This record gives sequence, C-alpha cells and structure tokens, in this order.
Amino acid sequence: MSAETLDSILERYDNNPAQLIPILQDVQRAENYLPRESLELIAEKLAIPIVRIYAVATFYKAFSLKPRGKHIIQVCMGTACHVRGGARIVDKMVRDLNIKPGGTTKDMKFTLETVNCLGACALGPIVVVDGEYHGQMNPPKWDKIYKTLNKTEG
Ligand code: FES
Repeated sequence: MSAETLDSILERYDNNPAQLIPILQDVQRAENYLPRESLELIAEKLAIPIVRIYAVATFYKAFSLKPRGKHIIQVCMGTACHVRGGARIVDKMVRDLNIKPGGTTKDMKFTLETVNCLGACALGPIVVVDGEYHGQMNPPKWDKIYKTLNKTEG
C-alpha cells in the first residue's frame, strides 16, 4: 500500500489512535491482509507502539498478517455445517484450488479458510465468498461459483 493511500485512510479517521480497528479494517479491505510496512507506518503516524497494533491485529480473527488471495473463500466447519456436508465441500475446494485450508494459491487469486460457526446453521453448509454468504452449499453450487470467479479474472 502506498504511503498516500495509507495517509488518506488515516485522515478519514482524523489520525485518531482510538480508531485503530476501523483503520486496520480499511487497510485489510484494500490489501486483503495487513502488510507489516503498513503497520509500521501506522505506528509512526499515530505515535503508538507497534506492539499495540500487533496486539489488536492478532486478537481479532478477522485480521490476517499473512498475504491472502484476491478472493477469500471461507467454509464453516461448525457442527451443523459439518454434518450437512461441509467437509465434502472443503475436500472439493482443496482439490480444485490445489491448496490446503489456510493456504493461498500461487497466483494469489484464492485463499481458502475454515471458520467456526457463523451463526447461520439453519442454512448450512455455509460458505462465505468475499464476504458474501452462500447457504446450502454443495459441490455443484461451488463449481458454479468457482467458474464465475475464475471468469472475472480476465
Ligand atoms: S455450524 Fe455453520 S453456521 Fe453454524
């Protein structure tokens, strides 16, 4: 992330250290993860210790310190989704993407993550693609999503 982009994010929050969480959310929205250099710059510009930023970034599961792909695929591994076939869907994704859960494809297009119950058990298995919930997921449905995501890559 360029220093200018980061500056504009910080300005949006009046360079207020109390707004650290929304600042980190905006950085992650732009980069899909929290680059170390950006965190160092935030610490410097807001005059707060870098350890405080890391404490927040590691406390919230939604933040990632590891580079992630352009598309984030999250599969619920909660009990309800699991018994409805969640594991079968993960297996298919692992084969299609050729990565393990927690991994990112070499071309940085996809990151596959497993998550705990998302609170929408009645609609399980749940898969979240780039923040959008997809209920009653099954392999053919995933095939369609995967094809669409691949197509939009140009
Ligand atoms: S177990 Fe998947 S949403 Fe609850």
